[in-house]
Amino acid sequence: MSDTPDLRNADANQQWGGRFAAGPSVVMQEINASIGFDRKMWRQDIKGSLAHAAMLARLGILSAEDLAAIRQGLADIAAEIDAGRFAFEDTLEDIHMNVEARLTERIGDAGRRLHTARSRNDQVATDFRLWVRDAIDGLDFQVADLMRALADRAAQHAADPMPGFTHLQTAQPVTFGHHLLAYVEMLARDRGRLADARRRLNECPLGSAALAGTSFPIDREMTAKALGFDRPTANSLDAVSDRDFALEFLAAAAISAMHLSRLAEEIIIWCSAPFGFIRLSDAFTTGSSIMPQKRNPDAAELVRAKTGRVNGALIGLLTVMKGLPMAYAKDMQEDKEQAFDAAEAWELCLAAMTGMVRDMTADTARMRGFAGSGFATATDLADWLVRVLRLPFRTAHHVTGRLVAMAEAKGVDLAGLTLAEMQAVEPGITQAIFDVLTVDASVASRTSFGGTAPANVAAQAARWQAALA
Ligand code: ARG
Repeated sequence: MSDTPDLRNADANQQWGGRFAAGPSVVMQEINASIGFDRKMWRQDIKGSLAHAAMLARLGILSAEDLAAIRQGLADIAAEIDAGRFAFEDTLEDIHMNVEARLTERIGDAGRRLHTARSRNDQVATDFRLWVRDAIDGLDFQVADLMRALADRAAQHAADPMPGFTHLQTAQPVTFGHHLLAYVEMLARDRGRLADARRRLNECPLGSAALAGTSFPIDREMTAKALGFDRPTANSLDAVSDRDFALEFLAAAAISAMHLSRLAEEIIIWCSAPFGFIRLSDAFTTGSSIMPQKRNPDAAELVRAKTGRVNGALIGLLTVMKGLPMAYAKDMQEDKEQAFDAAEAWELCLAAMTGMVRDMTADTARMRGFAGSGFATATDLADWLVRVLRLPFRTAHHVTGRLVAMAEAKGVDLAGLTLAEMQAVEPGITQAIFDVLTVDASVASRTSFGGTAPANVAAQAARWQAALA
């Protein structure tokens, strides 16, 4: 882009016009401006400025009158932004300078004093931490809500058998409640990751100034406390250039989005006609413009797909950060859109998933029907041979394999073989074997801790319901 005069703004930047005679080119302004997205942090920016001003006044760096004017000015600006009456300017680059310029417009020199002992570098690091912390709190609440929805459905279906799969091949019967509680466990770990991220995030960069700290006698404990941080950050270089807190948030988001995507995939499979395990209502499905019979699980498909954006945000920010020398670099301005987008996608996915879990109806008869198909109780037969006939497990496995092959050839389930046919393979087998071949006997027998026995599942569902109440 040539630097011709018509690409320039006539005026030098109001904030650093002392050094600059002319304004930036239009393209410079366009690549530089973040106000289009960082305006999202306006509440955090104002909150940070209020804490900073109060601290400056407490230490006599700012007069009481200036503090009063700043408080009033920032309150008025907050009202303007809230009401959609604030004119955000690209020429003012970002949320920090937009707010400060407006403040100065309203209150004059007191506004010009606010930036004492502060830089946009520690300001943005503080604002963004506050924003991510707020996002974490909101998301934690939403994850808990999804867990509650799943635990409720798990309690309802604690004893309803369905086929359990490995390799998506019928493996052993499980209960639908047990399957749903697997996701509750995953989501509980997601909450743990959010809590970890929040704990490490909760240090206040404000007062680190541009990179070296400040010569003013500030009280960083006071601003940290006012903003709900546990303590101030201990190294000013690290404070202005660290984005680990955003990366940890995005890593937690990516793992959780992956969990949601797995559940979405299962919902899609379960609602397909060949499976027919669950049905989603009109509220969470769409029709087809050509095929009148269609009921498509678009919400689940989009939850599955949005995982891509969240993963992209994590990789995107890791890539932005990987080559940056100390301390702040403008590259870091590219941290926010990714985090904003990922948070929004995660929020929407959680809301959609919670909606679907509450909305779905299970065809328990159909699930039960399939639970015993595919020789799903073969392991129960082998276990019986071990328990009753004392066969070594490997031998029992082999005997059972021969019985499965025999049933397959005959076109029946294991229970479709006659006792005589079974005894031809293993003479010790008695009529009692048939008791373990039912789906209900199979799930009821899985009483080991963490197993699928309905009593276990009901207890686990109740434990989660109580923990989440
Ligand atoms: N808009 C900037 C960002 O998001 C704020 C910090 C700018 N600091 C600077 N020295 N240019 O990172």
